[in-house]
Amino acid sequence: MIVRRHRSAALLAAVALTLTLSCKFEPFTPELHYSLNGPVVEKNPDLQGDPGAQAQLAGVLEMLVGTPKDPRFLALKDWDFDPNYWGEDLVKKDENALAALIASNRAAYREQIASIEAGDFENVFQPRFADDLWRWWLALKAEKAGDAAALKEEGVKLFSEYYPSLSNSAAFYRNQCFHCHGTEGGGNGSTSRFLNPRPRDYRPGKFKFTALKGKSRPRHEDVYRVLTEGVYTTAMPSFRRFTDAQLHGLVDYVRLLAIRGETEILLASFYTSDEGLSLESVQENYGDVVAKWRGASKQVIAAEDIPAVTPERLAHGRTLFMTPGEKGGANCVSCHGTSGRGDGASAFEVDPLTKETRRVKDEWGNEISVRDLTRGVFRFGRRPIDLYRRIYAGINGTPMPEHIGMTVTEDGKQHPMTESDIWDLAFFVRTLSVHEATVAAAPSHH
Ligand code: HEC
Ligand code: HEC
Repeated sequence: MIVRRHRSAALLAAVALTLTLSCKFEPFTPELHYSLNGPVVEKNPDLQGDPGAQAQLAGVLEMLVGTPKDPRFLALKDWDFDPNYWGEDLVKKDENALAALIASNRAAYREQIASIEAGDFENVFQPRFADDLWRWWLALKAEKAGDAAALKEEGVKLFSEYYPSLSNSAAFYRNQCFHCHGTEGGGNGSTSRFLNPRPRDYRPGKFKFTALKGKSRPRHEDVYRVLTEGVYTTAMPSFRRFTDAQLHGLVDYVRLLAIRGETEILLASFYTSDEGLSLESVQENYGDVVAKWRGASKQVIAAEDIPAVTPERLAHGRTLFMTPGEKGGANCVSCHGTSGRGDGASAFEVDPLTKETRRVKDEWGNEISVRDLTRGVFRFGRRPIDLYRRIYAGINGTPMPEHIGMTVTEDGKQHPMTESDIWDLAFFVRTLSVHEATVAAAPSHH
């Protein structure tokens, strides 16, 4: 065994911790510490203006997920898995994912692997963005000095099966994502205020682009897909140029930030000066948040048989789309408008303060445009199955609602919308961008 892994060391004994921290509040260096979620702290009068209480919250969060330099999940005693190896365990259990990882590593570290195979150990050079791999290699080299055969075999394996540590991925995140998404994943990096839509704030645990129902947390592969594809027509770029391992590592780190952020929101919401934060409630809330991420794969919207597109289905989809809620329809028209341009009446609202009409807001508090469906811009894929899933479950964090099971009235009878109805809507939506002329030419509201 080499020095590479110390799984058991990550299982810290939570009980050993006393949560009564000293009252010193030190301003954080953003690169090395996570800052607290300002607006969340401000909402609780017992936390706001009490540096000691804030330091306690910061300390608890650090106990749970570490620091940006050394991010590390606290693994609770009754867990049968170690979240510090969440993605790695997933990928290495999945034959296809593992094969892809190895192929990608072999391509990226082609030269290092060639040198090792040639026994030319001194000419293995340091790869970019993989300090941990480099450290593991140096340790292996020292350990196997004098045993060239073993060093060759284990060295090739090390580079081929490389999967980054959380701390390496955190450094990579600082390099690639931080200026948009911020140190804590608050979506508030230095370039964020120039962007519309804004970069995602991971902290509430709301992610838009999943194949899941019930506002579920994303699965590993959902976030992975966002990183490879980017989000079309937004500032979120594709990171396909990086290796598989690097992308998996980023997914792991995004998950850590999201878990930290959601736990923080929960803990901050019920902190009281009298009670402080009890160890039980900390563990319980942290456990609940982690469980939401663990349960994601149970929420997949399955779709084995995609029906054939027929004129009847398109016509039905159109009727559902165009018929307002008060007439028993699916009510898409209220937001997307009769022309599908995203200019329905519910796309706008009157600002309670300024009394001006503006776009509706999403759950992160930013104004959001109802999509112009005539442009054919679909941010999480344009395959029928992608649209089906969007319409089925809605878009988490936005006004776009879930539609499966919604009550509609057809031929004078009420019924909950079925999978078949959702397919009809998906098929119809696709025609909006290709055959705009087939859409009612009725004037839009704005
Ligand atoms: C130039 C700015 C920018 C950079 C750099 C950037 N992002 Fe984003 N990111 C965005 C924007 C904007 C969105 C929101 C898109 C939307 O709401 O449709 C986003 C959304 C996301 C989402 C949310 C997906 C969902 O399902 O809701 C994830 C995850 C994400 N980014 C991860 C990353 C990671 C990891 C990196 C670094 C490797 C990164 N981003 C770099 C701008 C950026
Ligand atoms: C309450 C307002 C509202 C209603 C009702 C609504 N939508 Fe949306 N829809 C939105 C918003 C807002 C977006 C843009 C979300 C974003 O950009 O993240 C959107 C986006 C979409 C998208 C783009 C998905 C993608 O991948 O980018 C499709 C397709 C769509 N809606 C279809 C429908 C259909 C079909 C219905 C009716 C069954 C419907 N919407 C009802 C507000 C609504």
